[in-house]
Amino acid sequence: MTSLQPNSAPLPPVAVVGLGPMGLVLAETYLRAGHPLTVWNRTAARADDLVARGAHRAGSVAEAVAAAGVVVVCTKDYESLYDAFGDLKAPEAPGRARPLVVNLNSGTPEEARTATTWADERGFDYLDGAIMVPPPLVGSPGAVFLYSGPREHFDSARPVLETLGDPRYLGPDTGLAVLYNTALLEMMYAQMNGWLHAAALVGSAGVPAADFAELALGWFAPAVLAPEGLREGADELDRGEYPGDLGTLRMNLTAIDHIVRTSREVGVPDDQPRLMREIAERAVAAGYGDLNYLSVFETFRAAGSAVGR
Ligand SMILES: NC(=O)c1ccc[n+]([C@@H]2O[C@H](COP(=O)([O-])OP(=O)(O)OC[C@H]3O[C@@H](n4cnc5c(N)ncnc54)[C@H](OP(=O)(O)O)[C@@H]3O)[C@@H](O)[C@H]2O)c1
Repeated sequence: MTSLQPNSAPLPPVAVVGLGPMGLVLAETYLRAGHPLTVWNRTAARADDLVARGAHRAGSVAEAVAAAGVVVVCTKDYESLYDAFGDLKAPEAPGRARPLVVNLNSGTPEEARTATTWADERGFDYLDGAIMVPPPLVGSPGAVFLYSGPREHFDSARPVLETLGDPRYLGPDTGLAVLYNTALLEMMYAQMNGWLHAAALVGSAGVPAADFAELALGWFAPAVLAPEGLREGADELDRGEYPGDLGTLRMNLTAIDHIVRTSREVGVPDDQPRLMREIAERAVAAGYGDLNYLSVFETFRAAGSAVGR
């Protein structure tokens, strides 16, 4: 079963399991591109619109697996993946390749590695993935999807993965995609909270966020938090060298303490800057006070981490 696009190779069939806000968009993207599409969702009615537009509704996950060599799973978490598949085993037939489960659920690296074993025991090949864009951006050329697991699975699924955006292969360790995903989300939330707390601080003097944004996001962020600066800093992290000649961690600790005290003074919650102060204090206590702020990294690194040593 293949679809023929004008002037292009037929697109492979694909099954999508899980039609929440994200799974629905993944399925729509496949349908629009012209892949023969089979869908399954625990709440079957969520597939109605897709079925009306040409998707095949599978009555069970087993039926979805039978319809396509690649099964894209997008449910809530790893537990819901196991719930959806139940005790299903991959169908076996002479000459038939093992079905590939591409799991785009969020979780932890260990959960992803455990899922590889789970899949293998049931006769499935397994690739783990993470979606780095919100639903409206799925299918656009800049939509980054991260994948990890055996390279051959990534290569064989590429015609299916490319329909969703820009697939990036991170390596054979299955846990890498969710590890990168978590790390990037941490950057996002830390930046967002920094912006939100800062807007609350100036808001205490009646400054609208829109006015503050002009300086904070228009000038400060590009000038002071510029990507080039972070990239140069990344080399320092890898070398483990943090010269303090232009400013020390101890100096930064004083600056963070001012954020804590100002928050209290103006009646804005101080828990976020207090945590930042605690982190800096811990680094000073560890002996990094005369180095620059990036030396805090030494207190974050997982014990035994090979990077930068
Ligand atoms: N939405 C986003 O912006 C976004 C962005 C990046 C990544 N993601 C990831 O994409 C995944 C799906 O997210 P989502 O936004 O679509 O919504 P979600 O609420 O995380 O997941 C909803 C889907 O999971 C299914 N589900 C939940 N528990 C289940 C179970 N025990 N057995 C079988 N199916 C179960 C739901 O089925 P029912 O319809 O029957 O309840 C529905 O299809 C998540 O892992 C999320 O982290 C989402």
